[in-house]
Amino acid sequence: MKLFSTFRGLLASCSLLALGITQALAFNNSRQDNVAVYWGQDSYGATHPNDPAHWQKVISEYCQDDAIDALPIAFLNVFFSTGGMPEINLANTCSGNFFPGTSLSNCQFLAPNIKTCQAKGKIVTLSLGGASGSTTFTDDSQAQKFADTIWNLFLGGTSSIRPFGDAILDGVDLDIESGSSTGLAAFVTRLRTHISGAAKMYYVTAAPQCVYPYARLQSALDAVAFDAIYVQFYNNYCGDTWAKTKSPNKSVKVYIGALADGSINAKTLIDIAVETRSKYSSFGGVMLWDASEAVANNRYDLAIKNGIRQKGRGGPAGSMPASLGGIQCAHVPSWKPDVAYRGGDKVIYKGHLWIARWWSQASVPGGIVGDWLDLGPCVRAAVPEIEFQRYYEVQEDMH
Ligand SMILES: *[C@@H]1O[C@H](CO)[C@@H](O)[C@H](O)[C@H]1NC(C)=O
Ligand SMILES: *[C@@H]1O[C@H](CO)[C@@H](O)[C@H](O)[C@H]1NC(C)=O
Repeated sequence: MKLFSTFRGLLASCSLLALGITQALAFNNSRQDNVAVYWGQDSYGATHPNDPAHWQKVISEYCQDDAIDALPIAFLNVFFSTGGMPEINLANTCSGNFFPGTSLSNCQFLAPNIKTCQAKGKIVTLSLGGASGSTTFTDDSQAQKFADTIWNLFLGGTSSIRPFGDAILDGVDLDIESGSSTGLAAFVTRLRTHISGAAKMYYVTAAPQCVYPYARLQSALDAVAFDAIYVQFYNNYCGDTWAKTKSPNKSVKVYIGALADGSINAKTLIDIAVETRSKYSSFGGVMLWDASEAVANNRYDLAIKNGIRQKGRGGPAGSMPASLGGIQCAHVPSWKPDVAYRGGDKVIYKGHLWIARWWSQASVPGGIVGDWLDLGPCVRAAVPEIEFQRYYEVQEDMH
């Protein structure tokens, strides 16, 4: 009987624990450790034709752990094509197979993949534009009608043709790199009227270059409220002045955007991000281009996530469930100099639990190189196995 009630108590704490951690994993726009990674253009495949193993996979492949919180799909690259409908381009993942009378690809096979990501609390948005996009409005009225089209084809509206079927995307990202700025503000304003009447949360973001003013996007950015901007730069936080002075939304989040191909060493980017976060309340996280590069480059996305994690998402200091009385390390191996560790691996060293930021060997946890993130002191005390098991599984899911 005693055993039974203890077991029930454990089950109750297990489900609470699971709930708490599930929420902590979800995209949360208020947090400052989000990682947004563009998916769709197979950037790695475009430059590595002989390495098909690392070409872009379906989107759900990038939602297996908690590294990525937001996935803008790139791109809807032509606003007005055959039949007055837009075009989308997802490189190797979906092309052709047009809806009749249009040049709009039917990618409905991706609906369950998108929903898998959303079920894990990630947001999946649609990015409009790209470097070679045809994304110009003639006037505000055309832009407003286009906002209706986007709402009906991809978001909460309805249409007989929906490229992602019944998957309802979580918002729109403007990555307008060509054409004029005409109509962009009207487009967002109209989209916001749809959004404000909806029960679901939607997000509107933009990806300007770090050159102020932001060329084609500037007038829209100054005129209408955005939730976040993914600024394409990494060592100059040019977004904050705009966020705090010009942006109609003074709470707008600014992300540091960088290439995921390793041209910036992950530790350098982490250091910049963490320092920037300590100085600017507008900081929202890191944006990376793109998912295929991040995975091919030794899980750059995970390295960045591990480097910027804060309390509540497995980051340092007091992030562990109090019910466990600290971090349980019973099944975690001790650090050894001759083992090659990969990003996400955990070890015990000097009584602390450490997580590898990226690949390393013979690099002492806590050493000046910063290859390891300190998750805090380890508690090796015996805990009920079932609770530990649940915690351990959740932690494993996270990495
Ligand atoms: C989102 O993050 C904020 C700031 O960390 C926190 O106060 C809030 O509870 C979080 N929301 C959810 C739903 O987890
Ligand atoms: C402003 O940005 C914040 C942070 O992203 C967001 O929560 C809020 O909804 C935005 N406000 C408007 C009016 O868009």
